[in-house]
Amino acid sequence: MKSILNEKNLKSKKILLRLDLNVPLENGKISDTTRIDKILPTLNFLIQQKTQIIILSHVGRPKGKVVKELSLKPIGEDLRKKLNKSVKLITENIYEIKNKDFFEKFEEEIFILENIRFYAEEEKNDLKFAKHLAGFGDIYVNDAFSCSHRAHASIQQISKYLPSFSGIQLDLEVTALNKITTEITKPITCIIGGSKISTKIDIIKNLMPKFDNIIIVGGMANNFIEYFGNNIGKSIKEKNCNEIVEKILSLSKEKRCKIIYPDDVLVAKDLNGFPENKELNQVLPDEMILDIGPKTIDKIIDIIDNSKTILWNGPAGYFENPNFANGSIKIAKKIIENNKSNKIFSVVGGGDTVSLLNSLNVINNFNFVSTAGGAFLEYLEGKKLPGITALN
Ligand code: 3PG
Repeated sequence: MKSILNEKNLKSKKILLRLDLNVPLENGKISDTTRIDKILPTLNFLIQQKTQIIILSHVGRPKGKVVKELSLKPIGEDLRKKLNKSVKLITENIYEIKNKDFFEKFEEEIFILENIRFYAEEEKNDLKFAKHLAGFGDIYVNDAFSCSHRAHASIQQISKYLPSFSGIQLDLEVTALNKITTEITKPITCIIGGSKISTKIDIIKNLMPKFDNIIIVGGMANNFIEYFGNNIGKSIKEKNCNEIVEKILSLSKEKRCKIIYPDDVLVAKDLNGFPENKELNQVLPDEMILDIGPKTIDKIIDIIDNSKTILWNGPAGYFENPNFANGSIKIAKKIIENNKSNKIFSVVGGGDTVSLLNSLNVINNFNFVSTAGGAFLEYLEGKKLPGITALN
């Protein structure tokens, strides 16, 4: 993979830049600009190099049709304010545009093509469509790690027609993920939560041979708690998962990776209830487990203290109710503390975990926070991402 950062003589080159500007839109307004803010360094670098920038991106899932609400217009406006440059959204039919139209017929400093998923060819990974897109530029840059698990025309096929490079954000993401999958400093621990164990089993299986500890928290820990003969009352749990739990436990022995699940929990009668600390064998039929308890927190803190690398994906409890956010907050604080004293390298990812860290305003206190959803998980599962493979 060649990084655009190391390229010389970029002046006046037309750069086709694939970004993931798939930000949440509510009534035409962007409710979270994290993904836009993260790619500003790439845009500023390309501006400094005096390149001509044409941005490609999707937002939402319009399924090959023009959906007015999924226009990139508000995103273009946000970029214009942040970059202080004129940004033109190209709404013309892509097939009617030619290479020489950019920067001649259209005069703005930066261009964005309208939502690339308005064309069904994008998701079909259509070769002709990719070739047509490639015709607009001299160089292709992928700075959309979070889309790189999609074999789509502007992610994969396009690289067949142009010299192709990775962008700054994609480089950072891959470097951070390599530090938790291939170039590991041990001991290494994964804290993994979420409600469905079946969606995380492939990650756990892939990490086990390399990791020293996997700490299971959140809703999926309930499957373990129940498997060991405890009543979990009304707690959420995925059905028919004993086989998955058995698989994890037997692999953990084979691969010498410790599996840790809660020793004690916080329960309430419902999601809005008040917390009560319980031992695992004390949970009543009308109670639900909503967070880890103080004994478990101490154990996790001790493991973090004895780790040099941490991967965290999934909150420890139902943090939307502050009564059950304590476990996640204590984990975040401990990782941040050890990060500050350079004792650990930390990578955090996953939508809920990122929202939690945003709500605590600590998103910048980790070595790397991934805003990629599916791509982050597939990378951890050990899958080859089409967008990354295309750059190699
Ligand atoms: C994401 O938000 O994870 C990316 O933009 C990919 O979106 P998709 O899941 O609709 O392909």
